[in-house]
Amino acid sequence: MTSSGRRRGRRRSGGAGAAAPVATPSPQVPSPFAHPAEAEFARILDFYGIQWQYEPRSFPLRWEGGQIVEAFTPDFYLPEFNLYVELTTLRGGLNTEKNRKVRLLRQMYPEVRVKLLKKRDVFRLLAKYGYGPLGPDDMPEVDRVLISPGRLQQRVAELAAEIERDYAGQPLVLVGVLRGVICFMADLMRLLHLHADIDFLAISSYGAGDEKGVRIVKDLEEDVRGRHVLLVEDIVDTGMTLNRVLDHLEEKGPASLRVCALLDKRARRLIDVPLHYVGFEIPDEFVVGYGLDFRQRYRNLPFIAVVKHEHLP
Ligand code: IMP
Repeated sequence: MTSSGRRRGRRRSGGAGAAAPVATPSPQVPSPFAHPAEAEFARILDFYGIQWQYEPRSFPLRWEGGQIVEAFTPDFYLPEFNLYVELTTLRGGLNTEKNRKVRLLRQMYPEVRVKLLKKRDVFRLLAKYGYGPLGPDDMPEVDRVLISPGRLQQRVAELAAEIERDYAGQPLVLVGVLRGVICFMADLMRLLHLHADIDFLAISSYGAGDEKGVRIVKDLEEDVRGRHVLLVEDIVDTGMTLNRVLDHLEEKGPASLRVCALLDKRARRLIDVPLHYVGFEIPDEFVVGYGLDFRQRYRNLPFIAVVKHEHLP
C-alpha cells in the first residue's frame, strides 16, 4: 500500500479492479407447462434469477426385450444447484406412483440429485440455497433478484483477497457509512486476514440532484491520523455522498485513503470519485437488499433485488 489513492481537487476513478458487470436478465421464453403449478414454480425461479430447464431429460427405469417400457422425466432441472425437481400437487395414488419412480431413479442413477417437492416446500428449498424465507408475494415492490446470495458471497471473497494482497502486513481501519453498508462490511471484515479496526460514519442527505447536500450526523470514534483507511460503501450513485465523505476523512490526515464499494451505478455518476475496489457494476435501477433499503424496508434480504419502476418517485 503506497500513499493516499486520492489527491485533493482531482477526481479520477482509475485503479478499480475489474468489477463484475451485472446485466439485466432477459425474461425466460415461456414453455408449454403441463400444469399451472409448474408455471408458478417457473415464475418463482425467474423472480430469483435462478436458471431452469423444463423436462430436459428422461431416465429409463425398465426395459423389456431391449425396449424402454418405463421412464421418468422430472419436471425441472436447476443447473446452479445440480438438482432435478418433480413437483407434486396431487394427493393419493399419483403421488405414490411418483414416489416409487423417484425411489427407483435414485437407486438406478445414484449420481443424480432429484427432489420431490410439494408447493409449500418450494421456499424451504430456496432458503436452503441462501434465498431466505420470503417469497415474491411478500415483497410486492420488488421486481426481481439482480444478484444472488451465492454471487454476493463469491465476489466479497474476491474483494477480500484483493484487499489482503494490497495491504499485506499493514494494519488498516475499515470505515463504513451507515446504514446500508452493514451486511457488506460484516461479510468483508470476516474474510480479511489482516489487522483491521472498524469504525462508522452516519450521514443524512437533503435535496436532490446537483443541489444534494450531505451532512455528517455521526463522526468516527477512532483517530485515523497516520493510519491506512479503507472506506467501505454500499453503493455509489451520483458520487455526491462519497465525495463529501472522502473530503471529511481526508481532513483527518490518514496515511492513505481508498474506497471499496459493493455496487457501482456508473451510468448515473455526476462526480468522478475514485473507486479502488468495486464489487459489481449495476444498471441504472433502484436496488434493495443486503443492507440497502427502499423506505427503510428490505434491508434484510440476502440478495440484491430491483424495485419495480411504478413504486419509485
Ligand atoms: P449518491 O450520493 O448519489 O452517490 O448516493 C449514494 C447513496 O444513496 C447511497 O449510499 C445510498 O444510501 C443511496 N442510494 C443510491 N442508490 C440507491 C439504490 O439503488 N438503492 C438504495 N439506496 C441507494
